Amino acid sequence: MEYQFLNSKWFWLHFLEFIHVLWMTPGLKSAIIEVDDKLALIDFKSHITQDPLQIMSSWNDSIHFCNWVGVTCSPFNERVTALKLESKQLVGSIPPSVGNLTCLKVINLQENNFHGQIPDEIGRLQQLQDLNLTYNYLSGSIPSNLSHCRELRVFDTSANGLIGQIPDQLSSLEKLEIIRLGRNNLTGNIPAWIGNFSSLHVLWLALNDFHGNIPIELGQLSGLGIFQLYGNFLSGMIPSSIYNISSIHYISVTQNQLHGQLPSDVGLTLPNLEIFAGGVNYFTGSIPISLSNASKLQILDFSDNGLTGTIPENFGSLKSLVRLNFEINKLGSGKIGDLKFLSFLANCLAQNRFGGELPSSIANLSTHLRILTMGDNLFYGNIPVGIGNLVNLSLLGFEGNNLSGSFPEVMGKLNKLEGLELNANKFSGFIPSSGSSTN
Ligand SMILES: *[C@@H]1O[C@H](CO)[C@@H](O)[C@H](O)[C@H]1NC(C)=O
Ligand SMILES: *[C@@H]1O[C@H](CO)[C@@H](O)[C@H](O)[C@H]1NC(C)=O
Ligand SMILES: *[C@@H]1O[C@H](CO)[C@@H](O)[C@H](O)[C@H]1NC(C)=O
Ligand SMILES: *[C@@H]1O[C@H](CO)[C@@H](O)[C@H](O)[C@H]1NC(C)=O
Ligand SMILES: *[C@@H]1O[C@H](CO)[C@@H](O)[C@H](O)[C@H]1NC(C)=O
Ligand SMILES: *[C@@H]1O[C@H](CO)[C@@H](O)[C@H](O)[C@H]1NC(C)=O
Ligand SMILES: *[C@@H]1O[C@H](CO)[C@@H](O)[C@H](O)[C@H]1NC(C)=O
Ligand SMILES: *[C@@H]1O[C@H](CO)[C@@H](O)[C@H](O)[C@H]1NC(C)=O
Ligand SMILES: *[C@@H]1O[C@H](CO)[C@@H](O)[C@H](O)[C@H]1NC(C)=O
Ligand SMILES: *[C@@H]1O[C@H](CO)[C@@H](O)[C@H](O)[C@H]1NC(C)=O
Ligand SMILES: *[C@@H]1O[C@H](CO)[C@@H](O)[C@H](O)[C@H]1NC(C)=O
Repeated sequence: MEYQFLNSKWFWLHFLEFIHVLWMTPGLKSAIIEVDDKLALIDFKSHITQDPLQIMSSWNDSIHFCNWVGVTCSPFNERVTALKLESKQLVGSIPPSVGNLTCLKVINLQENNFHGQIPDEIGRLQQLQDLNLTYNYLSGSIPSNLSHCRELRVFDTSANGLIGQIPDQLSSLEKLEIIRLGRNNLTGNIPAWIGNFSSLHVLWLALNDFHGNIPIELGQLSGLGIFQLYGNFLSGMIPSSIYNISSIHYISVTQNQLHGQLPSDVGLTLPNLEIFAGGVNYFTGSIPISLSNASKLQILDFSDNGLTGTIPENFGSLKSLVRLNFEINKLGSGKIGDLKFLSFLANCLAQNRFGGELPSSIANLSTHLRILTMGDNLFYGNIPVGIGNLVNLSLLGFEGNNLSGSFPEVMGKLNKLEGLELNANKFSGFIPSSGSSTN
């Protein structure tokens, strides 16, 4: 009889149900997993080898682990939801057991000395939204298992020593808003599927070893604000689709192997531009006049390219401009009048072929101007007295011209001057001394 009862389907079904209910009882379940979270944290601590600020000494049994420094728990089930140990001078590695903290939403370990690899087990953190590991010494490749962290919004592993390609599996991370992988040793192409991340507003891939073209698909990133690819080996042209992203305010593609012309309407299609930098590439053609319509422009830097023509006069309407750099191009004709636009604002014009006398309108340049380098051009005549108005100048370069005469007394008023390049001219007389040291 008894035997028959144990054998019956009814008994086993209800027995399993009973176990299930027991398991789902909040207190019981959390008590079991809570212990697991604590074990994982203790394991994390055991992988810290140096801790000069003694952060980890608070991770002891006299207080509940939810109150340990850097640990945040959910008030409902006492599971660990955040691990925030930024800038704590910690030395150590990230153990695989971090994958046991399956309720983690935030991991911030930036600005420490973590080394070793990012463990594959990070893929178990399916609720992870914010991962910041920047400024450490992490090596190895980006774990492809990260593709399971589908809630990820912020992915910042910049400034480490990561190698290899961006794994294609990460195309599943469609909620990403910020990707910062700059300053690593990543190789391969920039994946076209990044163009599918419709919430992306920061893409920082600078200072790696990326090759190939900038994918056309990135033009679909309609909310992109920051787009930084400088310091790679990218070639080809900037796809015209990129100039369609009107939200962009910061583009830098400096130091790559890009060529082609800047579209004539770039200042109209990118009205929010604040920083536009493409120095040390092979860009040709002229500087688009439309850039004067990008009224928020602060920095325009296309030094060391093959640009021709002149700098448009109407750049004078750019009231926010603090840096304009077209050093080492083929601008100018060597004739008087090349610098008409100077009556508005100018900066960093070294190593071109501008000629003529320095215009007295130099006095009307923005008093915010910090750097004015006009070296290695074809200027002659005196330095205009109005130079004394530019009280914020910290670097002034007139070297390698044919300037003559004495130095205006007013130059002594330039208290912030830290660098003064005047060699290879035909000056006579002394440099007036100023409040701070000049050289
Ligand atoms: C992490 O979880 C695995 C699998 O559940 C377990 O074997 C391991 O002991 C856990 N590690 C720690 C440090 O809790
Ligand atoms: C445990 O941590 C608390 C809180 O930081 C600290 O006051 C206490 O001294 C620590 N205990 C030990 C044994 O380190
Ligand atoms: C990779 O992630 C999956 C899904 O979260 C997980 O089941 C698996 O254990 C992870 N792999 C490793 C090696 O941790
Ligand atoms: C990651 O941390 C660094 C250093 O604190 C910070 O500058 C950066 O903005 C953080 N990344 C994100 C995406 O918030
Ligand atoms: C990463 O690149 C830097 C600078 O190019 C180089 O010094 C370093 O050796 C590279 N590291 C690896 C692991 O390739
Ligand atoms: C973007 O997503 C669509 C739809 O899921 C897919 O068909 C396409 O291949 C993806 N694009 C890239 C470049 O991966
Ligand atoms: C730019 O956007 C417009 C309007 O959305 C679209 O018609 C055009 O094809 C886009 N151009 C490029 C090069 O993507
Ligand atoms: C662009 O700026 C010029 C003056 O520099 C102005 O004449 C023109 O109307 C502006 N265009 C638009 C579309 O704002
Ligand atoms: C500076 O600007 C003022 C006002 O626009 C103008 O009257 C003056 O002639 C300019 N000075 C020079 C030297 O161009
Ligand atoms: C000098 O520069 C500072 C900082 O940009 C600015 O606050 C100050 O107004 C400038 N001085 C003048 C006279 O423009
Ligand atoms: C400077 O002027 C002399 C003649 O006065 C001329 O021979 C020389 O080419 C000029 N140098 C430059 C850099 O223009």
